[in-house]
Amino acid sequence: MNLSIIILAAGQGTRMRSGLPKVLHPLGGRPLLGHVIETARGFAGADIHVVIGHGAERVRTAFPDPDINWVVQDRQLGTGHAVAQVLPAVADDRVVVVMYGDVPLIRHGTLDALLNDAARGEIGLLTAELEQPAGYGRIVRDDSGHVTGIVEEKDASDAQRRIREINTGFMAAPAGRLRGWVETLDNNNAQGEFYLTDVVGLAVRDGVTVSASVTRDPHEILGVNDRLQLADLERRYQRRQSEACMQAGVTLIDPARFDLRGSLQAGEDVVIDVNAVLEGEVVLGERVTIGPNVVLRDTRIGDDVTVLANCVIEEATIGSGVRIGPFARIRPETRLADHTHVGNFVEIKKSDIGAGSKVNHLSYIGDTSIGRGVNIGAGTITCNYDGANKHRTVIGNDVFIGSDTQLVAPVEVKDGATIGAGSTITRDAPAGELTLSRAPQETRKGWQRPVKKKP
Ligand code: UD1
Ligand code: MG
Repeated sequence: MNLSIIILAAGQGTRMRSGLPKVLHPLGGRPLLGHVIETARGFAGADIHVVIGHGAERVRTAFPDPDINWVVQDRQLGTGHAVAQVLPAVADDRVVVVMYGDVPLIRHGTLDALLNDAARGEIGLLTAELEQPAGYGRIVRDDSGHVTGIVEEKDASDAQRRIREINTGFMAAPAGRLRGWVETLDNNNAQGEFYLTDVVGLAVRDGVTVSASVTRDPHEILGVNDRLQLADLERRYQRRQSEACMQAGVTLIDPARFDLRGSLQAGEDVVIDVNAVLEGEVVLGERVTIGPNVVLRDTRIGDDVTVLANCVIEEATIGSGVRIGPFARIRPETRLADHTHVGNFVEIKKSDIGAGSKVNHLSYIGDTSIGRGVNIGAGTITCNYDGANKHRTVIGNDVFIGSDTQLVAPVEVKDGATIGAGSTITRDAPAGELTLSRAPQETRKGWQRPVKKKP
């Protein structure tokens, strides 16, 4: 089937009360429009046209994808007018599918029935039965149940307003016929707009069948008009995400307290405790345990890793058998090799930590390479920044760094070296030796503590 998908996204979204165009507001960490475009891409070989208007440039630049045909609708004269802007770019023998940029949860499979209707030369409509149909266009059927038209709420009679079957906005039609109907639309209605929905009445007049498929899951067709609806859809979307993760074998201690703003690929028997936020592309090996309140972004973790509570890990690569946290911060370009331990209140940035090495307490490690089997004592700081430039610290294998050491970069501590506690290391420390810098300890005999003066 030759499909042309038209996504309507020119509207202002006044009720969002936002400087950001509505379709750029994120759902699951991605713009609303991004979800719709992804669903559209699910139809192999379809060409994708997006109608933009309000904030057109911002919307366009948010999607640098070369496969999208952006069409600017300068004035928003209605959904029929919006579709008319695209039709010159669509050949007659194609099937047109209309989607909305602010209805992000629609599933690809739900639209299949519509496409098949349109491929037979009919109009395919997606409708829904709602308890509260207010605000939507209503589906009007004749006595034998055939669809005869759509009437917008503002144009509807009292009897029509009682109809509970509504127009979701998703429509498919043969492009050639659609072009003819769209050209004859007028705006003699309550809103003075060119309604795409009037195409349905015109088709019926021309003897074309209109097939309405009632959606089984009315949540799929919910749109975003304000921030309350955005938050509601976010929860529904996250419910989908957590269900998919659990079906793939991940244990979520509480699926309602799990947010995946991107993708998760997880091995067997992964357990994720409450309030985890996963962003970007996260890959977890087998038997990984993620503690409560953990943020993971664009991170890859090996097998048998334990991340304890309250850790933030971004753009890092972590081996197998690693233990991190609680309260650790792993920043971008960090690689932790197998069996490393990173403990509480440790920050690591742009560093390699070799296999079996430990940084267990209260340390800052930045722009550093650490070899195998190293122990970094509590409170060790790599002084990597001189106020203008960053410098590297290199630590060899089997090094022992005593607690409360400052390593003033650029500096190297060679294999097997030991650094005495409390040292400030400004020059390279030789292999296999004890190096320390420490003011000599003294005791002042008979020294008296000062006492408070009498007033
Ligand atoms: C539309 C339908 C209504 C349906 C409802 C479902 C029409 C006339 N009515 O009504 O039957 O029940 O959606 O939500 O189609 N847009 C443009 N350019 C325009 C006008 C709109 O791009 O000139 C875009 C909007 O950004 C939005 C979509 O089209 O994404 C729908 O427009 P909206 O104004 O929300 O239509 P409704 O009145 O809700
Ligand atoms: Mg609307």
